[in-house]
Amino acid sequence: MLKNVRNAIIDYTFEVNKMDKIIVSGVKPTGSLHLGNFFGAIKQHIELQNAGGKTVFFIADLHALTTVKDRKIMEENVLNLAINYISLGIDPVKTIFFRQSEVKEHSELSVILANYITHAQMQRMHAYKDIISKNDQSNLNMGIFNYPILMAADILAYRPDGVPVGMDQKQHVELTRDIAENFNKTYGVDFFKLPEPLINKESSKIIGTDGKNKMSKSKNNVISIFEDEEVIRKQIKSCYTDPLRIKATDPGHIEGNTVFVYLEALNYKDLEELKLKYTKGNISDMEVKDILLNTYLEYFKLAREKRAHYLSNLDEIRAILDDGAKRASQIAENTLKEVLNITGLGKI
Ligand code: ADP
Ligand code: TRP
Repeated sequence: MLKNVRNAIIDYTFEVNKMDKIIVSGVKPTGSLHLGNFFGAIKQHIELQNAGGKTVFFIADLHALTTVKDRKIMEENVLNLAINYISLGIDPVKTIFFRQSEVKEHSELSVILANYITHAQMQRMHAYKDIISKNDQSNLNMGIFNYPILMAADILAYRPDGVPVGMDQKQHVELTRDIAENFNKTYGVDFFKLPEPLINKESSKIIGTDGKNKMSKSKNNVISIFEDEEVIRKQIKSCYTDPLRIKATDPGHIEGNTVFVYLEALNYKDLEELKLKYTKGNISDMEVKDILLNTYLEYFKLAREKRAHYLSNLDEIRAILDDGAKRASQIAENTLKEVLNITGLGKI
């Protein structure tokens, strides 16, 4: 059972696996994927899908609109994310997978739910406060200010039990709970469930190839999942290892050595043996990086093949998103109908 402790850090793959829980999450379409994205978010989404709950995952393109104002980039990013997610293991039969802007109820619910939260509460949102504190208000459009309300609508449309998110999004799920609670109280109903934030313990944990910062596109310290092999080879070559090691025969250090962090994440089978060799000075940095490259390419081999297939069969992706939108609409329409009824809106 999902723990009933608010804000608990939940080991959700274990908690959810025998239950018929509803899980909802959105992913912003923002360029290409890296190892951090995979181990910090996507892998957990796939595990949740395979754990037997009802999973609803969508491409949060309305959220991307706060920053992406170029039609071509928007379309490319959305399509890319869809291809990447499906190639990595999101199964459109098990999961309702769709594009947010195709399910209009998200927007309509967002307008309605805005009335159950105060301006003061909205001003406490970290994402918004970050922008204010950076004094960069020229880019602060109302989409950014309102986006936690849209996120609440995204979630409550499906009345889920859990919402897997990274730590940075926890506050937005809490706001969603506040909106749901306030709505229920206002009308004396028990309509919205209060969804639990399922905080992903791995999020922001994967260190970048610089060995200093978390892996992030903006830090240029990533290992990409779907780039050409040559690009990945270069990224792996640049991995921070052990600066004290001059020659291959010097005993190497494992602590803080990114190559070993990634090998462990990738479940490399002979890791302990390799560590021993490295600390004894029996293997060079170049050799361990070659092992990492091979392990990496093997780990993502199937996903890379599937991606190549979908790239030349885009209609399959479009059909998957259309079907997902239809299935999502059935649920969201029903929620909206009931909300209109409870609030006294809509047809008399
Ligand atoms: P980036 O920092 O590269 O722009 P995003 O902010 O687009 O990445 O991240 C999307 C999701 O991927 C986040 O919600 C987070 O959970 C996960 N993620 C990103 N970077 C890492 C990382 N270094 N380690 C673990 N998870 C990460
Ligand atoms: N705001 C989330 C992010 O930036 C993406 C998102 C949009 C989302 N709607 C959601 C996540 C609903 C969970 C549930 O990562």
